[in-house]
Formats: sequence, structure tokens, C-alpha cells
Amino acid sequence: MKTTLQINITKTSKSRLQETDFDNLVFGKSISDHMFVADYKNGEWTDLRIEPYAPLHLMPANSTLHYGQSIFEGMKAYKNEAGEVLLFRADANQKRLNESAVRMCIPEIPAEIFMEGLTTLLDLDRAWIPNKLGHSLYIRPFIFATDDYLGVRPSETYKFMIFTCPVGDYYSKPVSVKVEQKYTRAAEGGTGFAKAAGNYAASLYPALQAQKLGYDQLLWTDGKTHQNIEESGTMNVMFMINDTLITAPTHTGTILKGITRDSVLKIAKEMGYTVEERFLTVSELENALKKGALQEAFGTGTAATIAHIATIHVNGTDYELPAKPSYAFSHQVLKKLDDIKYGKVADTRGWIM
Ligand code: COI
Repeated sequence: MKTTLQINITKTSKSRLQETDFDNLVFGKSISDHMFVADYKNGEWTDLRIEPYAPLHLMPANSTLHYGQSIFEGMKAYKNEAGEVLLFRADANQKRLNESAVRMCIPEIPAEIFMEGLTTLLDLDRAWIPNKLGHSLYIRPFIFATDDYLGVRPSETYKFMIFTCPVGDYYSKPVSVKVEQKYTRAAEGGTGFAKAAGNYAASLYPALQAQKLGYDQLLWTDGKTHQNIEESGTMNVMFMINDTLITAPTHTGTILKGITRDSVLKIAKEMGYTVEERFLTVSELENALKKGALQEAFGTGTAATIAHIATIHVNGTDYELPAKPSYAFSHQVLKKLDDIKYGKVADTRGWIM
């Protein structure tokens, strides 16, 4: 691959490809051979390099470890039948990483460093990209503070890194969710829209309580009233009620601006569905469940793609959703997205690179 930036490449002397079981991939367990690294110091991103995936050397006073100045992205690469590598909406991930960066006082990554680092890494590790439907190479770009300093202030040095892992399904079966009305994922004015590491850390305890009760994930509600449904676990969440697709709006700054969310909404509008970006209230959800008016509920995310929801727990009751017919919207939209991602259709809407 032709690079215009200077990226120093050190290849691994011992690939782990052969010992990776591509038929039994567990999300995030098998990491590909190489990683891209750039350092931020003296006000600029420098020393672009690709190295074998290896441990990092950090000082104990590393500011990320104490104050959590760390952000990340999740994106995927696919292979089409000709073996070409397709990247889905990478430009949107690059922009969102920088939106997170601004909120967390992290210096933005120039688009060309993000893209060239990414494409050079993918070219080197292209043998790690699965070529099976439902499988892909999950890409994890991230930036974290590296100052060796305990004072609380934005770090002056950072690392931007990208590594990848071949993955299959994030959820192997439809999920059960519990409406959460005590704990809060994000508050207005907070960091909910950013892909900040701390958002995920704060979600673990409430999610664990629900998992102990047998639910896979939470349906988060807003921090002020706990009446508005926001997101589910690591995904945006959508509800189909009377052929209207409803999902939380992003203007409150508490919702992650999901790229799968955006793609699904665009496809739904083209398919003729009414789309409402508004908060579904807990009582509306409960009424729809009681009346059998909730046709479908599903999560959307890069890792999860479309995660079907089978059970919703609200106010002490478990409601089972009806089995989805093959023509259900969530099946159709998943197929349409896969057709684009795996290069099966000519019209990729500019979403493929
Ligand atoms: C993604 O969908 O890429 C995410 O970031 C979710 C991840 C935390 C597993």
C-alpha cells in the first residue's frame, strides 16, 4: 500500500494466525498480530509506527490509570467474495473519535493519521479478516493520556493506538433486558455522547446486578426522571410500535451517536417506515407490552450489529416479545446492512471504502 505519511513498520517474527480458531471466535479474545501507534508530545502527533501487538510500558502515575482520560472507537472491516477488504463508514468513526476527544480534553487525531494508520494496519493483517458472513475484523482505535503526573489536569502526552480482532456474533442469541430506574448511565452535560472509557466502567455495577437476576443487559433511563428510555448496555435501542420505529434522540448529549443507529434510521425511512427520534417513556413501553403492540425491540451497535431483544423486564414483570417473522424489520435491515458491508450490492451509499 502507498503511504504518504512516514509509518515505520516492524513485523512480528511469530504470527499467531495459525493458532487462532476462526470457527470459534469469542468477541475480543483473539487479537491480530500488529498494532498501530502514534505518540502525542510537544503539541503534535508523531512517531507513527506499526509494531507487533505487545504489552505497553506505563508508569504507575500514568494519568489514565487515575483519572480516566481515555476514549475509543469500534468499527469493522469485512471481506467480499473477491477477497477485497471493505471498511464500513470509517469516516464517521474518525469524526466521532474527535468529538469524544474534544469533550475529554484529548488532542484530536488528524483524519490522515487515523485513515493511513488504519489502512496500513489492515493491509498488513489482511489475513486476519474473516471471509464468512456474520464474521468480520473488529477494529479498536483508542487514545489515552500518558503523563507520568498525579495532578488533576489534562495530560500533555497521549498515545493513539489501533488494534484489531477477528470476531463473530457479540450476542449469540436474542437478549433479555431490564429497565433500570435507579442507576444512571449518563446525565445531561456529562459524557454520555462520548465513547469515554469511564462511561463503560460506570455501567458495570448496575449491569452486574441485572445479570445476577438473569438479564443480559439494562435498558437505561434518563438521569433526571428515570422515565425516558435511553440506551441498552453497549448499544442504542430501537422499538417498533404500530409500524413506527422509535429511538432516543441525540440532542440531550446523553446518547451515543451510533453509526449503526444512523444507518438503520436511514434505511428505515427509505423502506417507508415512520421514524420517530424521541424518548419512549417507560409507561408507553409497558402499555405497548401489555397490549401486544410492541412488534420488535432491538439494539444497534458496531459490535452487536442488530441484537434482537426477546424479554423486557418492567416494573416487576417479564414480558416476552413475540417470535419475529422472517419479514420483521430488524431481519430486513440486518440483511440490507450485511449486503452493503460484504459488498453484495453495487449501491453502497458511499458507506464503503
Ligand atoms: C461497539 O459496538 O463497537 C462498542 O463500542 C461496544 C463495545 C463496548 C463492545
